[in-house]
Amino acid sequence: MLDRYAVIGNPIDHSKSPVIHHEFARQTGQAMEYDCILGNLGGFAGDVLHFFGQGGLGLNVTVPFKEEAWQYANELSTRAQHARAVNTLIKLPDGRIRGDNTDGVGLIRDLSNNHQLNLSGLRVLLLGAGGASRGIIKTLLETNPEAVVIANRTAAKALQLAEQAVGFGPVSGCGFDALSGNKFDLIINATSAGLDGRIPEIPNDCLTPGGCTYDMLYGNHTTPFCRWGAAHGAGRILDGLGMLVEQAAESFFLWRGIRPDTEPVIDLLRKTA
Ligand code: ATR
Repeated sequence: MLDRYAVIGNPIDHSKSPVIHHEFARQTGQAMEYDCILGNLGGFAGDVLHFFGQGGLGLNVTVPFKEEAWQYANELSTRAQHARAVNTLIKLPDGRIRGDNTDGVGLIRDLSNNHQLNLSGLRVLLLGAGGASRGIIKTLLETNPEAVVIANRTAAKALQLAEQAVGFGPVSGCGFDALSGNKFDLIINATSAGLDGRIPEIPNDCLTPGGCTYDMLYGNHTTPFCRWGAAHGAGRILDGLGMLVEQAAESFFLWRGIRPDTEPVIDLLRKTA
């Protein structure tokens, strides 16, 4: 029997993770299979127990189960502890389940390796204060930016997340209206607004002319926040497809101990999008 891995989420039909991991496995000669599991809302723990009970070795976890996975894991990596969210579960040799979070590494590798963007000294605006922002804030602050401002529709959540992260670097939190008069070199959208075709209501002039916008969402069409970047003078407009492949590569490494080459897989997904 092949070594078994899967992604669990709800919904799950449009997940690109199986294609990505099949490509990684083919490229590195790993004998493994990778499936999609539609997780039961309210029944996540049972689904995970069943998967590992049947011999599964590792799971990727996606919306809306990352926080439940964090609670489920028997032990956590430091980055998962801080994120309070888990996107990778690993069965350890003694049968216990370890939780990790590869989202922050995925984002930073995409920005720095794939797009050659050095974050050191940049003023960064992070939009959103939910799980997506929690997953990346520590890694983002470790890149030595001049400042990271977390702005959220509900300001109190941004203030709270900034308070939790303050030990890792220069970070503050606020609501969208407090952004007036400020300029940022890089704006990262980690809100879920784009899923409803919307954009966060931020001031029109908060991007430095020629700056970079990064939408952690991705799609077959240009995302609403990428359109915002194009309309507001961005020099570089990036979506989250590269981050998706990079976080998957880090999960693959945690499971198999081999780093796949991400570039051909990103190219493949762009061509087939
Ligand atoms: P997750 O944990 O999956 O990221 P979440 O905790 O619901 O999901 O967080 C979603 C984020 O997107 C939040 O920051 C949310 O803002 P609020 O905290 O004010 O709810 C943000 N968000 C969702 N829809 C938005 C919209 N239309 N405009 C701006 N922000 C939005």
